[in-house]
Amino acid sequence: MSKAAAPVRLDKLLANLGYGSRREVQALVRAGRVVLDGVPVTTADERVALSPQLPQRLSIAGVPCDPPPGLVLAMHKPLGMTCSHKEPGPLVYDLLPPRWRLRDPPLSSIGRLDKDTSGLLLLTDDGDLLHKIISPKARISKRYRATLARPLRGDEGALFASGTLTLDGETKPLAPAKLEILSPQNAELTITEGRYHQVRRMFAATGNHVLSLHRDRIGALMLDPALDAGAMAILDANAVKLVFNDES
Ligand code: URA
Repeated sequence: MSKAAAPVRLDKLLANLGYGSRREVQALVRAGRVVLDGVPVTTADERVALSPQLPQRLSIAGVPCDPPPGLVLAMHKPLGMTCSHKEPGPLVYDLLPPRWRLRDPPLSSIGRLDKDTSGLLLLTDDGDLLHKIISPKARISKRYRATLARPLRGDEGALFASGTLTLDGETKPLAPAKLEILSPQNAELTITEGRYHQVRRMFAATGNHVLSLHRDRIGALMLDPALDAGAMAILDANAVKLVFNDES
């Protein structure tokens, strides 16, 4: 999505989208099952321009092709799933349609949420976009709703906003963060960094404990309330722009 892609060979494209090996894709072409602009493709080395509209032009066995590379997804990450292959337990990638798990380049989560955190998680196969979003220099804000074990003391907002709080085991103070108190044990915290377990550790630094944590916003992109836990939606370029369009 970040740069205009050169046209690609159909057999390579479809193999990379998980439709089978190049040989298997060539067999699909020979069987007349790959149709471009209403006409069965005759040679698998035909080149096609990549665009988000490709599924409207290209079908496989009568079904629109999967989204081409440059795919960005907004997932409502459920509790209990991990974002990292290094952690035990089910992975957020298990929620993807089976063929999407075979894609090359693969879909990767843009940053991570803990196993016990729910909410907005972006995934993409666009490495440049991924790095642009997670780069500390981008300072993209992320908003979390936390339920706490104990009532807030009252000084947490000032402490988090001060830019002086240093987490246990670290030497560099956190960037200023914004706390909005919703009730004695519920608050929204907006941070611009992505340190390990950052929100939980920030509240721990004030003698509190996070009971539940949910991310509902990245930049100006909100988690769509129509997305149930475990569901995902494809983001178009305008939705992706919202991530960088931060007013907080
Ligand atoms: N901070 C946390 O503590 N956990 C998350 O998943 C995200 C931010």
